[in-house]
Amino acid sequence: MVFAWILAIVASILYFIKKLVDGNVNPKIFYKLLGRYRHILPPILKFCFKDKSEDKLNRFKYVHKIFPRYLRMKFLNFDVITVYDPELCKKIFNSQLACQRPFRNCLQLEYGLLASTYHYWKTSRKHLNVAFNLNVLKGFIPIFDSYAVNVVNDMKSHLGGKEFDLLHPLAKLAGTTVAATTLNAHGVEASPSEVTKLIDSINLSLDLLFKRIITPFWTFDSIYKFTKNYKIENEARKFTVDYGLELIAAARKRKILEDKKIDENGNDCEKKPAKVNYIIDQLVNHEEKFTDQEIQEHLMVILITASETTANLVATTIIYLAIYQDIQQKVYEEIFQVFNDENIEVDYDNIGSLKYLEMVVKETLRLFSPIPISARETIDEFDIGLDKPLAKGAKIVLLNYVLHQRTDLWGEDADKFDPERFSPENMAKRDPYCFLPFGAGPRMCIGNRYAMLTVKIEIMRLIKAYRFSTSIKEEEMKMKLSFTGKMSKKHMVTIEERK
Ligand code: HEM
Repeated sequence: MVFAWILAIVASILYFIKKLVDGNVNPKIFYKLLGRYRHILPPILKFCFKDKSEDKLNRFKYVHKIFPRYLRMKFLNFDVITVYDPELCKKIFNSQLACQRPFRNCLQLEYGLLASTYHYWKTSRKHLNVAFNLNVLKGFIPIFDSYAVNVVNDMKSHLGGKEFDLLHPLAKLAGTTVAATTLNAHGVEASPSEVTKLIDSINLSLDLLFKRIITPFWTFDSIYKFTKNYKIENEARKFTVDYGLELIAAARKRKILEDKKIDENGNDCEKKPAKVNYIIDQLVNHEEKFTDQEIQEHLMVILITASETTANLVATTIIYLAIYQDIQQKVYEEIFQVFNDENIEVDYDNIGSLKYLEMVVKETLRLFSPIPISARETIDEFDIGLDKPLAKGAKIVLLNYVLHQRTDLWGEDADKFDPERFSPENMAKRDPYCFLPFGAGPRMCIGNRYAMLTVKIEIMRLIKAYRFSTSIKEEEMKMKLSFTGKMSKKHMVTIEERK
């Protein structure tokens, strides 16, 4: 009899745990007992019993219910703080004391913006800011647009057909667009196959880099050097370095010819003002006289940071639009109002006037931030107003993924897609540090305006040409973490031509 009771109690507990893990029942009495732990318990149980790698990041979503602003672990020299609070983010992002990144050795880049030391970063960031100024970006618009139009035309092969993975063409589009504007790699020097190989090598290096960062022992060079991944990563890296140096040599040759006012055949010609200021040419011509290695690493960092992020942002925005047909229609109507004639050229002003599209992109950035986690390291003791100051060398993990879904900041429906959150009235009511997809302060994303421009142009072209549908449901959209944050499911869509 006693045995039967014990069996019944154990079975009930297991049944209850299963229900909690599955999240398909709301046992109110237990929820009352659990109090504020009710949000964090199911993720913890899932983590223990039913972990799928694609769900890992989603487990953190409710961490703020127990640790409202941050989670700090301090033990002897080990000082790590995970932050998802607007006020703390503001202090950290705006201080020079937290302007350095940790795990710099993993990237194996001495000079690029992403991983250089604070002192090198500070001067080079000043020079590179100029390379991304508004006039430069305006010069890139015809390139963004022509590549987007090509991809839209190529997609005609999917008309009336089965669902296809939209990320494929968009990843290629992002890679070639970034290679063109950054490396001037659509000119005579670059063959299409080399550009494709370059993009593949970069994506491979990124995947391996992420695996390295999340495998604690591999962050030590002395151990990582003996792994198979190290060999593969080095081969991919060798190609990107060699190819980058080849393009830099070509850019240096262009500069010499321009200075001498002669063409490639040695004939006299007038120096014409450049229509497009490719980043590579800006760095080669810079008065700072960057070395080839410095230029190569700066370019590599831009390629790493720009291509996957923008491709995923466009693909995920289209998935939301395919789910919410009414929002897609509203976006289309706005686009049609501005671009109602085939001959209208895309420019900074007309693309900037697509305000509703911008709200839609921002809402996607909130829910599917392509960089959901960024990290900093203090260069000195840093008091951010907690019980103890952060020690020198403390690691700061900035979780915008949690910040963007805090129910106390964004409402109980924080995990639902609703572009109205970014209407001017709603934005005015909210602390700007609640929304940080590009970071903030002196070390924020240098390519934020570049990204918004190219992404809006690509979506404008896609929605103007096609109506998108998908079988994906909003509840199925989970974020998978790699070097960038992306949807765990494939971006499957069908398209229909707009008349
Ligand atoms: C949707 C697209 C993108 C998102 C969401 C994004 C987001 C971010 C974030 C969160 C950071 C870290 C900021 C911090 O630590 O405060 C970052 C850094 C960076 N991003 Fe982006 N980024 C995007 C696209 C781009 C593009 C298109 C480029 C270049 C063309 C770019 C270049 C960089 C660079 C060079 C850094 C390092 C900046 C530094 O350390 O000084 N990003 N990005």
